[in-house]
Order: sequence, then structure tokens, then C-alpha cells
Amino acid sequence: MRKMIHARSNPKAGVAYRRFRHARDCIGPAVGSLGWTLRLTDIRPFAEPLPPNASFIRADLADGPAILRMVEGCGTVLHFGGISVEQPFEDVYGPNIRGLYHAFEAARREGARMVFASSNHTIGFHSRSAVLDGDCAFRPDGYYRLSKVYGEMMAQLYWDKHGIETVSLRIGSARAEPTDARMLATWLSYPDLIDLVVRAATAEKVGHSVVWGASNNTRMTWWRNDARQMLGWAPQDNAEAWAGALEGLVGDQPASETNQGGSYCAMGVVARTDRADAITLTLFFVQATRTKFGRPRSSMRFRARTATATSVARRLSLRERSLSPITCLKRATAVSTRARLL
Ligand SMILES: NC(=O)c1ccc[n+]([C@@H]2O[C@H](COP(=O)([O-])OP(=O)(O)OC[C@H]3O[C@@H](n4cnc5c(N)ncnc54)[C@H](O)[C@@H]3O)[C@@H](O)[C@H]2O)c1
Repeated sequence: MRKMIHARSNPKAGVAYRRFRHARDCIGPAVGSLGWTLRLTDIRPFAEPLPPNASFIRADLADGPAILRMVEGCGTVLHFGGISVEQPFEDVYGPNIRGLYHAFEAARREGARMVFASSNHTIGFHSRSAVLDGDCAFRPDGYYRLSKVYGEMMAQLYWDKHGIETVSLRIGSARAEPTDARMLATWLSYPDLIDLVVRAATAEKVGHSVVWGASNNTRMTWWRNDARQMLGWAPQDNAEAWAGALEGLVGDQPASETNQGGSYCAMGVVARTDRADAITLTLFFVQATRTKFGRPRSSMRFRARTATATSVARRLSLRERSLSPITCLKRATAVSTRARLL
């Protein structure tokens, strides 16, 4: 589903952004069936036929005035837009930090309720043996997930300071069906998701509440004590039906299988030893190149490498001086290629 703004005429409204066909096709009509008017929005075109009572406005979350205009007259904002997978910090910042602020500011101006698509990866580095309540400590497993922590904290700020209500949905794995062993615990079926979103949008009073977004999965032993009772949400589906097919589908990194965040905990990790070796050996590579082959002053590439290695080496003490220049050259080339330092 792409993102959506829902607006109901008296005068509730909302924003949601999602990619899944089922969720897109279902959340819109489900909210529409409440008699609400919907405003859908995304940075990309929304080519498909729109649900009834819906209009689409293309906009960038980073464009504050556009988001403020769009939410005018709305009573509910379903905020599901932005970067939804792990990305470098600079890419996450615009949509998920500045954009988040724009969405909350728009909600504040309208006195609208927010339903915020947070993530289970706000707590990804908790061990799978831990049992967590909704108010547990955050342990995000990446920059995108860190932005979700920021979102939940912003929701708390806007409730404490401005009285703006938010339900933060710590979505597990919203899929048509589970696709690996971890999802036997974290799967959130589309019908359960849709029911959760509608209840979050329509419950009488919510303050700032957190709900774990997983279906009624037999293997979900990690999460408990959240605001579902207040919303009247009781998920119906269970991933156990896929257990036979998926049990063996596990990640190949230790961090993938010991932490609740799964493979995302291992993503983007550069082993410290590799990095230290790479830095040390990069300098040796430069030294070895100088010793063995002289210094080709005309080579831009050589100069760039030398500059990188020198600046890195300045910050770190050197080791393994006993290696021969040629061994260094070979190891530095292999290791630094892997660590992308050259
Ligand atoms: N799908 C899951 O299992 C899951 C799990 C945890 C959290 N979530 C959260 O739920 C939400 C929806 O997830 P999804 O999987 O459907 O993601 P998605 O990537 O399909 O949807 C995000 C939408 O935001 C739009 N977008 C990106 N940058 C934008 C910008 N600058 N301005 C306006 N729109 C922009 C994208 O075009 C996309 O249509 C996301 O916030 C995601 O973090 C999803």
C-alpha cells in the first residue's frame, strides 16, 4: 500500500503510507467504510484506482507547507510513509526525521489523532529470551529503526505537551504470509493489521499508547502488556500454519538468531578486527607500494589512497610492523577491498 491520508467529514482524517497491495486495498476501504473521506499521499504517483471517497495528493514528507496544507480539516493522521528499510543515515533523515516532524506538526495544528507506523526494530537488539512490555527500553537495530524510536518519543512529547493522541504500532512483519522462521513469531496478517489500524483510529481515548503489531502467533513469546485491551484489539491469525515449511529458514549470522530484530541486527556491521586490520594494512599497502615500486606522483588514484590511508593511520596506532611489504600489499589489498577503505 502507498501512503494515504484519510479524512472524515466530521472532521476526522488520517494519513497512511504502505506498499502492500492487500493493506493498501484494505485499509483504505476499511477506513472509508467508517464514512470518512480519505486523502492519500505519497512521493510517488498513485496509479491504481483510488478507493471510494478518496483523493490523492503527491507530496514529499520533507515539504512542511505541503504536509500542513494536506492535513487541513483532518481529524486523524495515519502516518505510514517514509523510508521503510535500512538506509544510510542521510537518506533516512529527510523523510523520517524532518518528515515525521511535519506530520506531527500538522496533526497538532488540526488537533488530530495520529496513528504512527513504528516498528518492532525499535527493540531489535533485545535477546529472544527476553519478554518485553510496551514500556521496555529501546534497543534499535539500525538508522531507519532509530527514526522509529524518534517517532515514538515525538508522539510522547506531543501528548505530554500538546495533548495530541497517538497510537504507536510496533509492527512486526506485515505480510500476506510469513516467509521465514522469525516471522513465525513476528508475522502480522493483513486482516489483523487493518483491524488494529481502524481500532487505533477510532478508540475513544488513547493518550500515547504502544501496541505490539503481531498476530496471535503461538511462537510470539517475546512481547506482552501493551494497549491492545484499551483498543479492543484481539488478533485472530496464527503463523503456526506455516511452521512446517519455515522452521529451517534462519539467518546465517549469530546476531540474526539471538536477537529479536533478526537479520537486521547483523546488517551493516563491519567487524572491528577486519576494520583495524584494514586500516593498519592500508598504511602498509602505501608503504609497500612506495618501497617496492617507488612513488608514482602522477597517479591521482595513488595520491587519493595515500591521503585516505594517512588520515586513517594518524588516528590509530599501527601494528604488525613485522610483516614484509609484499605480504602487506597482498593482505591490504584483500582486506581493504572487503572493508571498502580504498
Ligand atoms: N511492512 C512491515 O512489515 C513493517 C514493519 C515495521 C514497520 N513498518 C512501517 O510501516 C510503514 C509502511 O511500511 P511498508 O512496508 O508498506 O513501506 P513502503 O516503503 O511500502 O511504504 C512507504 C511509502 O512511503 C513513501 N515515501 C518514501 N519517502 C517519502 C517521502 N519523502 N515523502 C512521501 N512519501 C514517501 C514511499 O514511496 C512508500 O510508498 C512504514 O513506516 C514502515 O516503516 C512496516
